[in-house]
Amino acid sequence: MRKPFIAANWKMHKNVQESVEFVNAIKNKLPDPQKLEVGIAAQAFSLPSMIQAADDSGLKIIAQNASAEYSGPYTGEISLRGLADSGVSYVMLGHIERRRLFNEDNDTVNRKVLAALEMGVTPIICTDETMVQKEVNGEIHYVFQQLMSVLRGVSLDQIKNVVVSYEPSWAVGYGQHANPVLAEEGCRQIRRTIADNYTYEIADKIRILYGGSVNPDNVGQIMNKPNVDGVLIGRASLDVDNFLRMVNYS
Ligand code: G3H
Repeated sequence: MRKPFIAANWKMHKNVQESVEFVNAIKNKLPDPQKLEVGIAAQAFSLPSMIQAADDSGLKIIAQNASAEYSGPYTGEISLRGLADSGVSYVMLGHIERRRLFNEDNDTVNRKVLAALEMGVTPIICTDETMVQKEVNGEIHYVFQQLMSVLRGVSLDQIKNVVVSYEPSWAVGYGQHANPVLAEEGCRQIRRTIADNYTYEIADKIRILYGGSVNPDNVGQIMNKPNVDGVLIGRASLDVDNFLRMVNYS
């Protein structure tokens, strides 16, 4: 049974005070953490204060990026060691904006994934690729080459500790309506890709999130799809009321 997961991605919004006020405003209104996990990905400087504010509410605080290096002369980078020490639960890696704007490639994301697993910070691996069709024994498969590249070297044991997020470029940040049918198809094909490359049992346990133009009006439809285990929400997560409506969608 995969626990559903709803996460905000605040991107480069909110200062420390605004972030803490948001956490204080939602922390007593969250669904039962045994039934649904809720997280917020915020800017690095806010993470420790948010962790403190979240207290024992079950709210997970997520980093939006990290370095693949353990420590050293990497000015401006954020170490996974420091994130782990601070109590950060998850780190988003390979988000489409990191790839588009900061030239992150599969190799860089792959090294970050391996480093996060090593440090015990669960990676939320973002994949944005267009599905490439391939016929296998007369059946159409979609091949997620980007995903398999960033999972290179991730063992059978480690793959259980990743979350995958499917954020197709047509849906992220453009104000287009998310399409629940396409969201389900993308997540289903990602699960199949993982099953083909690892095992069916493992693929069945991995949580796959959908991201792109999720809002209070469409979150229920998307969350009800069988292969969509959660959502990663950008713009619509910045407002307390909207976010509470989405985490309490059912
Ligand atoms: O990580 C979240 C995605 O980039 C989606 O952003 O909900 O603003 O389309 P959006």
